[in-house]
Amino acid sequence: MSITVTEKERFFSLKTANSEYQMQADSYGVLKHLWYGKIVHQNMGYLLEYPDVGFAGNLYEAGNQRTYSLNTMPLEYAGAGVGDFRICAASAVHADGSRALDLRYERYTIRKGKYNIPGLPAVYASDNEAETLEITLRDTASSLSVTLRYGVLPELDIITRSVLFQNNGTTPIVLQKAASLCLDLPQGGSWDWIHFHGRHAMERLTERTALMHGIQESSSTRGTSSHQQNPSVILCEPDCTENSGACIGAFLLYSGSFQTQIEVDQLRQTRLVMGLHPDLFQWTLQPNDTFATPEAVLSYSSNGLAQLSHHFHQVIREHICRGTYQLAERPILINSWEAAYFDFDDQKLLKIAKEAAAIGVDMLVLDDGWFGKRDDDCSGLGDWFVNEKKLNGSLCHLVEQVRAMGLKFGIWFEPEMVSEDSDLYRAHPEWSIQIPGRKPTRSRYQLLLDLSRSDVQDYLYERISAILKEADISYIKWDMNRSICDWYTTLLPADQQGELPHRYILGLYALLERLTTDFPEVLFEGCSGGGGRFDAGMLYYCPQIWCSDNTDAINRLSIQYGSSFFYPISTVGSHVSVCPNHQTGRVTPFWTRGDVALAGSFGYEMDLNKISDEEKEMVKEQVAAMHTYYDLTHEGLYYRLTGLKKQDFMAWEFVAKDQSRALLTIVKTDAEGNMLPVHTKVCGLAENKLYRCSLDGEIRSGRTWNCAGLTLHQVLKEYESIRVEFTEVE
Ligand code: GLA
Repeated sequence: MSITVTEKERFFSLKTANSEYQMQADSYGVLKHLWYGKIVHQNMGYLLEYPDVGFAGNLYEAGNQRTYSLNTMPLEYAGAGVGDFRICAASAVHADGSRALDLRYERYTIRKGKYNIPGLPAVYASDNEAETLEITLRDTASSLSVTLRYGVLPELDIITRSVLFQNNGTTPIVLQKAASLCLDLPQGGSWDWIHFHGRHAMERLTERTALMHGIQESSSTRGTSSHQQNPSVILCEPDCTENSGACIGAFLLYSGSFQTQIEVDQLRQTRLVMGLHPDLFQWTLQPNDTFATPEAVLSYSSNGLAQLSHHFHQVIREHICRGTYQLAERPILINSWEAAYFDFDDQKLLKIAKEAAAIGVDMLVLDDGWFGKRDDDCSGLGDWFVNEKKLNGSLCHLVEQVRAMGLKFGIWFEPEMVSEDSDLYRAHPEWSIQIPGRKPTRSRYQLLLDLSRSDVQDYLYERISAILKEADISYIKWDMNRSICDWYTTLLPADQQGELPHRYILGLYALLERLTTDFPEVLFEGCSGGGGRFDAGMLYYCPQIWCSDNTDAINRLSIQYGSSFFYPISTVGSHVSVCPNHQTGRVTPFWTRGDVALAGSFGYEMDLNKISDEEKEMVKEQVAAMHTYYDLTHEGLYYRLTGLKKQDFMAWEFVAKDQSRALLTIVKTDAEGNMLPVHTKVCGLAENKLYRCSLDGEIRSGRTWNCAGLTLHQVLKEYESIRVEFTEVE
């Protein structure tokens, strides 16, 4: 039993293999958070002793007890406006205009298996793998009930959370904030937080700083999870490293605007609140209506960040990603974008395909420009009809020729967009998101379709499925190339316009659900100008996401490093491209570009006819390496061997689940005269096994390699890389 309840004390404990989470409803029905950390086997309420700090709101029922204050105690899910002045988890406006939410314990249920959330992506698990706890709280003065749902996956050290609001009264209630997760850490002490920021073509850069008093935030108001911040966060002890120390991580299964806030209060307590961004959220609950928040996923590790990442990699790969390609080997693809941009015809594509087939690539992906009037990015979006003039024939004919060469065929869509210069826009301007009376904001010359509309979803479903039926297509790159603003929909009344941002995402998920259900053999790869919507919500529909438009191997090291804290390698679309690199102008060795791309779902982004014979040989080697190491890279445990501190190399390692072998990659990022040898850590080998190192054939115990690491005797020049294998010997 991973969930235990002591009824009399209204005490709840959720246990996973290595963590425990505790809550307790006190005599006033206030649900306190007691603990999230190592398994302790005792009620941690003893930690909660609070002084009278003054200017605290005291609970009326507590009489003269000045120390009983919602403002100082760790709450499981903080309401609003009743004396807790920290960030709230939820707020609502009642029929009389008041905004208070005073949540008290009402009941609980436990059941086998994991709850799901209709219409939203969520962790899935069999009845033997998970248990669900639901705790219902009720507002003291309204008929709003708030059910906190916990999914416990003990073997994975994962706890999921979602909240269900229900209006049991007779008048509407308007939700203004509905976070998925509130986590109070009462233990005192200080924490660092790690979050992932960036910009287009430089996503998920890692930042770790000590928490300060007050509120710190990582969020997106762009209608997407965004390049700029990622819906994932880690709190860790200041001395926490990859392999030691306590840390807690959380991510959201959501692809729209989000907000992660962390507040350190006057008592040095820490509160983490994560969920829908309240600036872009409002929801009217009519009598009997319910509203379910997106899901947040939590994990704890007492052994540092690597183990925390392993928990997240496993839950995303095995309990969020779905479909034929969830675990199946991903095709090595060659994408036409950097090879041709908009400038192609059938012959050019066939030439690339021919070369790719000869070298062992599995699939040709035709990127932007194959439909409507689309020779640059100013027009055509929405007109998902094949441009047969450009392809000199039908798509089916092109695909048949590519298939005859032994390659599969994939194609690019940007379904959520419309160009003003398109037949679709001319026919249905009302389908685009814009505010009547205002000029719409353009971005990359394009507007958005209102995906909350079922007629828009139906049009896109019809067009995409028609293309999928017209030709033998095995893959879709689902792109999304702008942020969303000008929020307005013709379908909702004025006082419900605030629902559109969330309804847009619900519409997107509904469309993706239909398509992935009806075309189960098609691999969907997410994309948003690279990694602008790299989140677990999209991964529920698309098991891989184009990680960044930046294919520069050296920049990719930081981008893939940041991505690796939460997202498994199998989700990270990563391609070898030409040099000088199109984004940075940097020249790196072909070999290095391959080594970096091998730490992802591998492919190419170039015209193979334009590379040298020597490079073609390297492509063959890389393709072979991708197959040889596939079980390691996609199924093994991933270790970051270098960190945020500036060093002159980056290194990472994959260890097979059975610890029989490992692959370690080093890339030299900086060089100077009279170079010192690279010395790297080695992680995760079995202490009592012997391993041969591929560099010099030396055999040492896993314990030795793990303790002492590896020194490279050969000198790596700037941007050179090397792969080192460790193989178990009997
Ligand atoms: C985005 C994607 C690219 C490419 C272009 C096509 O920028 O991230 O990979 O598909 O769109 O317009």
